[in-house]
Amino acid sequence: MGLLTGLLWSCTSSTSGPDAAASGTESTVQTGGSSTSAGGDAGGDAAGGSAAQGGAGAADPSGGTGGSGAGDSAAGGGNQTNAGGSGGTDDATSGGTGGEGTGGADTGCTPNGDSQNLAERYANCFPIGAAVDSQSYTTHAALLKAHFNSVTAENEMKFESLQRTEGNFSYDAADRIVNFAVANNMKVRGHALVWHSQNPSWLFSSGGGAVSKQVLLSRMKNHISNVVRHFKGKIYAWDVVNEAIMEDGSYRGGNLPDGQNSRWYEILGESYIAEAFKYAHEADPDAKLFYNDFYNYIPAKQQGIYNMLKGLLDQGVPVHGVGLQAHFNIEPSTVTTNQAYHQHVANLEEAIKLYSSLGLEVQVTELDISLYIPGVTYNPSTFYTTATFTDDLKAKQAARYREFFELFRKYGSAITGVTFWGIADDNTWLSEFSSGRKDFPLLFDVDHRPKPAFDAVMDF
Ligand code: XIL
Repeated sequence: MGLLTGLLWSCTSSTSGPDAAASGTESTVQTGGSSTSAGGDAGGDAAGGSAAQGGAGAADPSGGTGGSGAGDSAAGGGNQTNAGGSGGTDDATSGGTGGEGTGGADTGCTPNGDSQNLAERYANCFPIGAAVDSQSYTTHAALLKAHFNSVTAENEMKFESLQRTEGNFSYDAADRIVNFAVANNMKVRGHALVWHSQNPSWLFSSGGGAVSKQVLLSRMKNHISNVVRHFKGKIYAWDVVNEAIMEDGSYRGGNLPDGQNSRWYEILGESYIAEAFKYAHEADPDAKLFYNDFYNYIPAKQQGIYNMLKGLLDQGVPVHGVGLQAHFNIEPSTVTTNQAYHQHVANLEEAIKLYSSLGLEVQVTELDISLYIPGVTYNPSTFYTTATFTDDLKAKQAARYREFFELFRKYGSAITGVTFWGIADDNTWLSEFSSGRKDFPLLFDVDHRPKPAFDAVMDF
């Protein structure tokens, strides 16, 4: 769908989240006569990830910094079979010739014995991560330790969490998560250095007006350098730039409604992306640097992301991987104008092939599968509850997980990490909306028991 459509949607939607707005009409939530899409398509559109910013933030049980986290991991053993570009190295000057890889040639992966532990079973494939928040790494520690070997901080490493006021870095919450991971031999993904969302208000202003290009660039550099150095040696991969491309493949620009708009782009132009990667690489030459985004199954968007990445590699910018957020739904939308109309495994496969043909690693960074179908209208009487999350629906969700994991395993060499955006259904950002809508998108239920989806993922 084009930018224009997105804008029109946003006009008819009361959602406060940037991407929620974009997908606002996809599935409308009707709460007592006033329509809001914030929670609404959380499932489908929350994916946009940014829905979060607005809507979810308020309802976040952990007071704005909570949520549920999930991290990605880099595939330890993952042998990159993609012969394409050289972007996968940390040598900034070698990235010049991406583009000729053989994205389709992957050796896949086999189960590691008959372990009933998720990460252990996938040890020949890729690390299995979970997003954690400042509470869930303790409240869900048993599940985390049993089934995951990577974490991502759901909110605690975002700009507004780390540098709420200029020059004052607050690392305590993030450090606690990292220390937990290190103590339990888990990898840590860093998320996210430069994003249009969850930024402190001082960042884009100066002396009452808009900040100048020069000052913003130096603020960006200062933030990236400080943060990446702080975690050097503990965080193996960073989402350096998050959500910079729109559904039609264009840059997320300055001409969008509040919340969706990128002030980074508006003030600095597209060069902010290359600069961010260079600063991160300078601060930690050993860290794998990722570009992270959602809706990669949309052909126009995946092409836009590919073009951008190829351009960066051609300029020698140190980009090493692409993160696929993977906020999916139990089935694709039947509405042709809806983003989720494209949410088919085959379309995601194209994205994996395309990106890995550049020699880039691919990670699934924020996986969850919502019960809600974009394009369908829900209201409080049709919101799912533990009672209406029936066995049939559980089986359907399991089948959807199965098809995506078949794909991930097929590309088990190109894919170097799969992270869920949360641990269990009692703590998911998709339920964190003011509409009261609950969702059940993960592998473990509200009581931390494995769901049929878990069995499906383990069945190979
Ligand atoms: C979400 C968190 O899960 C929420 O708790 C928070 O309120 C908003 O952000 N894409 C991203 C993530 O890259 O950072 C978002 O996380 C989900 C969408």
